[in-house]
Amino acid sequence: MTLAEKIGQMTLVEKNSINPEDVTANDIGAVLSGGGGSPSKNSPEAWVEMVGGYQEAALQSRLGIPLLYGVDAVHGHNNVKGAAIFPHNIGLGATQNPELLEQIGRATAVEVTATGIDWNYAPAVTVPQDIRWGRTYEGYSEDTELVSVLGAAYLEGLQGGDLSDPQTVLATPKHFVGDGGTTWGSSNTGDYQIDQGDTQIDEATLRAVHLPPYQAAIEAGAQSIMVSFSSWNGTKMHAQQYLLTAVLKGELGFAGFLVSDWEAVDQINPNDYYDSVVTAINAGIDMNMVPHNYERFVSTLTHAVEKGDVSQERIDDAVRRILTVKFALGLFERPLPNPDHLTQVGTDAHLDLAREAVRQSLVLLKNDDDTLPLSKETPLIFVGGEAADDIGIQSGGWTIEWQGKAGNITPGTTILEGIEAAVSEDTNVRFNRIGRFERITDAGDNPAIADVGIAVVGERPYAEGVGDNADLILADGELAVIDRLRESSERLVIILISGRPLIINEPLETADAFVAAWLPGTEGAGVADLLFGEALFSGKLPYTWPRDIIQLPAAGIEDPLFPLGFGLETQTEDK
Ligand code: GLC
Repeated sequence: MTLAEKIGQMTLVEKNSINPEDVTANDIGAVLSGGGGSPSKNSPEAWVEMVGGYQEAALQSRLGIPLLYGVDAVHGHNNVKGAAIFPHNIGLGATQNPELLEQIGRATAVEVTATGIDWNYAPAVTVPQDIRWGRTYEGYSEDTELVSVLGAAYLEGLQGGDLSDPQTVLATPKHFVGDGGTTWGSSNTGDYQIDQGDTQIDEATLRAVHLPPYQAAIEAGAQSIMVSFSSWNGTKMHAQQYLLTAVLKGELGFAGFLVSDWEAVDQINPNDYYDSVVTAINAGIDMNMVPHNYERFVSTLTHAVEKGDVSQERIDDAVRRILTVKFALGLFERPLPNPDHLTQVGTDAHLDLAREAVRQSLVLLKNDDDTLPLSKETPLIFVGGEAADDIGIQSGGWTIEWQGKAGNITPGTTILEGIEAAVSEDTNVRFNRIGRFERITDAGDNPAIADVGIAVVGERPYAEGVGDNADLILADGELAVIDRLRESSERLVIILISGRPLIINEPLETADAFVAAWLPGTEGAGVADLLFGEALFSGKLPYTWPRDIIQLPAAGIEDPLFPLGFGLETQTEDK
């Protein structure tokens, strides 16, 4: 291999920054779709055509080394319209069910490979300690052991027993290490507050809280790991030779390859790109996610090797790690997408699995007088809240678009649709986005009110540092929905759609029953299943729930509103 061919293998480019011919000309070894990076027509067929085009181009290079194509399929194949979208990791953490996680990993790999893709930047095995972080929902839990168990199970589902199987993908535990332990206000990235910030803890704490999930992932067969944007005690993780090489590759024996995060190498020394590249590669980064200006990276690293600032041995080590994984994936034998699997995207079996995951993810925080489960024969139910009838809101960030967005963004079942399908034909379900229901009077002049009001409230979609939030309160509009339904219903059930615990003291007091539903994904009917007793509440809080923001960071605090592991259960008999 020439030096150019070797450095090409170390270069990961976002698909909007390179066309297939340039993949051939520059011996590029990997391409990704960033969050929402779908083809112009967002269909499984168009994904196969796009990915296949890049792969065919790679095979035209002198050595014909197959391409790795990567995406963030972090809660199902979430960039693809029609894919089964599972609850985000915070909800999966509430299930405490590694067998379920493995099944979800398996189903996700089947849908990802159906679109020709063989690399998934998941699972996030972060251990979030401060729920003000916009990536809290990408973490299973604040509890290290639970993250380790669930992360390893999901990884085994993605990679299956045989990485060369055409329906398995390369997993990428992320973001190494301590991304969930950063200090509020320590971020230097745009107006982020805690995302990409500084993890200001000693090595013993780093090893105790944040390292074990990577040990579990390596034991489960991890072959690539993504490095964190964050810093440890002031030094960028992408520059941490001790942690990347001595600890991860040496002490933990990680034999796969380390991939950078999105342009994260550039953050090492914003004023000197040459220094950033030399520092990162020498620290142990094997593949650089350089989403835009790949030519600059290739020329800079080439210059560094020619000058001797990066050794030929380091280059050979990185390329050997990458090629070993490509062989293990079976890419040389089977480089091109198999369109026969296209029907595997969004199958009923996967949607059923997603619905079961929703059921197991819900946490019942209050249930006065056994309000839940509701009778399917309840005469009159008022449902309020924008989130009650919105696939985009109930799916959260990393859905179709990087940040996600409200609206009918992909096929699925809203919570309202689930409620309407669950009740008897004699039940009258009325919906209003702001929870306003004009008084209806019965024969007499006593205005009738609903037997049950269901307020579905919470957060709107966000991803990464965009979701960094110091207040964690419900918006006034959401509180108004609760107040209106309180006024117009005998009993009030509140369903919270959020990527983390929020400050809910007053709504909790007002409600007769209160459910933390997290970000359930496309199968909103799973919520109705538990509201009407089709299945029982079993979810347990994966994060400590504070009663006040002065208690943050909340992990492990005394006197929380609800402790880690809290969750009420419903009775077996139907009502
Ligand atoms: C993002 C995220 C990372 C993701 C990568 C590619 O910035 O930090 O989790 O895998 O870029 O989309």
